[in-house]
Amino acid sequence: MTVHFIGAGPGAADLITIRGRDLIAASPVCLYAGSLVPAALLSHCSAGARIVNTARLSLDEIIAELATAHAAGQDVARLHSGDLSVWSAMGEQLRRLRALQIPYDITPGVPSFAAAAAVLGAELTLPGIAQSVVLTRVSGRATAMPESEKLAAFAATGATLAIHLSIHMLDKLVDKLIPHYGADCPVAVVWRASWPDQSIVSATLGTLAASLGTDTEADVDGGSRTGLILVGWTIGAQQFDESRLYAGDYDRRFRPVGTAPRFPEDA
Ligand SMILES: C[S@@+](CC[C@H](N)C(=O)[O-])C[C@H]1O[C@@H](n2cnc3c(N)ncnc32)[C@H](O)[C@@H]1O
Repeated sequence: MTVHFIGAGPGAADLITIRGRDLIAASPVCLYAGSLVPAALLSHCSAGARIVNTARLSLDEIIAELATAHAAGQDVARLHSGDLSVWSAMGEQLRRLRALQIPYDITPGVPSFAAAAAVLGAELTLPGIAQSVVLTRVSGRATAMPESEKLAAFAATGATLAIHLSIHMLDKLVDKLIPHYGADCPVAVVWRASWPDQSIVSATLGTLAASLGTDTEADVDGGSRTGLILVGWTIGAQQFDESRLYAGDYDRRFRPVGTAPRFPEDA
């Protein structure tokens, strides 16, 4: 018996790995985080599978479900949105399972920042502009930010920022970012990337408030807090260096160039 933690992806039902889909089909029990995991993924569950929405359960109740399945020798597909390596609450479940000696494995998923970048047609690391992406958030009711992880500290690096779980703080974020990136810096807010009702607002830090004001799709205050804020000069950039890797004169292991290549083909 194994608890299979599976990244369910950002929302579109076909943005799950083949391994994840097959594990859902093979597991007689499925626990899913109903607030963000698309219900369509549950169609992969086998007939008669026990399907539990964990949105209303406490950690103790979730672990009790896993322990019951373990006692019955039943595999569990445990679905969380996006990828499991960020803001999934997987860590605390793994710790409990280790203490109970219940086996588990992990299948990664498409994270929401990657889905948002795809929607925008953006590469978040461009030569000569930014080579780092900071996945971050602001403090929430459930989780405080460590003192050293201030947004201003990340902004000072000029890296591309992918700000999660923070849509309700948009105005304050913009005020904190303008001193570092400038009012002209591009920003994009993507709500529910890859869902049928996804929406996008592209602006600059200086014009974002006005752009949101005229956008009827963007429900900032109400229902849809599932939005990601991407900030940085890579967003929509047209002026950037080409990667040396694919330059015709760049000598490399897989494409030796010149009379004395660094990595001769027969070496
Ligand atoms: C609890 S975190 C889950 C993150 C997830 N583990 C991941 O890999 O992206 C939820 C936050 O992720 C972001 N998010 C998740 N799905 C999204 C989507 N489809 N479009 C935009 N943002 C999304 C939002 O910032 C939301 O507040």
